Amino acid sequence: MNSTTSYLRYTRFVLIMVLLVIVAGAVVRMTQSGMGCPDWPTCFGRWIPPVNASQLPPDFEKYLRKQDIDHTFNVYHTWIEYMNRLLGALLGVFIFIHTIWSFRKFRNNNRSVFYISLLMLLAVGFQGWLGKKVVDANLATLKVTAHMIVALVIVVLPVLIISKIKASKVIAGRSLKALTVTTLVLVLVQIILGTRVREQIDEIASGLNYGQRNLWIGKLGQDFLIHRSFAAIVAAACVFLFIRSRSIPILARHSRVILFFMLCSFAAGLAMFFMNIPAVAQPLHLLSGVLLAISLFSYRLKMK
Ligand code: HEM
Repeated sequence: MNSTTSYLRYTRFVLIMVLLVIVAGAVVRMTQSGMGCPDWPTCFGRWIPPVNASQLPPDFEKYLRKQDIDHTFNVYHTWIEYMNRLLGALLGVFIFIHTIWSFRKFRNNNRSVFYISLLMLLAVGFQGWLGKKVVDANLATLKVTAHMIVALVIVVLPVLIISKIKASKVIAGRSLKALTVTTLVLVLVQIILGTRVREQIDEIASGLNYGQRNLWIGKLGQDFLIHRSFAAIVAAACVFLFIRSRSIPILARHSRVILFFMLCSFAAGLAMFFMNIPAVAQPLHLLSGVLLAISLFSYRLKMK
């Protein structure tokens, strides 16, 4: 295996790790474990959190006062949040290695690859800092959205690096390129709208003590109606892109992947609507939305 192949493999690995961290964050939310560790970067003042109440520090009540859910020690919430943080920290280490590798490999040729990797490192550092702010503000909603936007930036950077190294591109007309960019913008708008809906769900859920899920959808406001209707426009754009890609085999294959992720996010959205937001549909909805954005981005990068 030559060094470029290993580098590409490692970059793909970093991409998968980023997705894993996004899913872990969603699982934290799904299980309402966000405040499982009320302080940061330690958890109940310790680097390895307690496994039972007898290991809590003497001043543990000062930590519990910060919580919006448990107000008592919940080992399950604490460890889910702790695993999420560990994964985030590991990701930071992996990206750091990636940046050093990129510097050594590309400092003389293709320097932009190194800069993209460096940007990824800075973005992940910023995300860690934002994570602390989210904890300090007891999951203040706007910061949760900012967290999501930075996550999207981090996730597209390895895709960009892979495309810069793999030079194989296909010639596509201007109208197909314009359609792709439009669809990508629509998906990004839909993701931001979705994050607003999610913020409202967080508020509603907290107001109902995370119970009575059958009431959550009914309490959503106009943002949800816009998000739901906008999904039809996103779906139409993806189907149109699929039809337009049929004559270019490589793009045709890729457009099927786009269609698949669109259908997954749509289906998870409908499941939440009709089935009182089953917890498992929340990470699936988020993950398929992010994968839809990534697949559209890499589809555009395939065009010359
Ligand atoms: C292709 C279409 C769609 C995309 C790309 C999309 C994307 C998203 C994203 C990224 C979020 C934020 C999730 C989070 O931060 O955890 C979200 C939230 C949400 N979306 Fe969608 N969505 C789509 C279609 C729909 C549809 C059709 C519905 C329902 C009819 C729906 C209902 C919701 C609800 C209820 C939330 C809040 C979920 C939560 O609190 O976990 N979405 N959406």
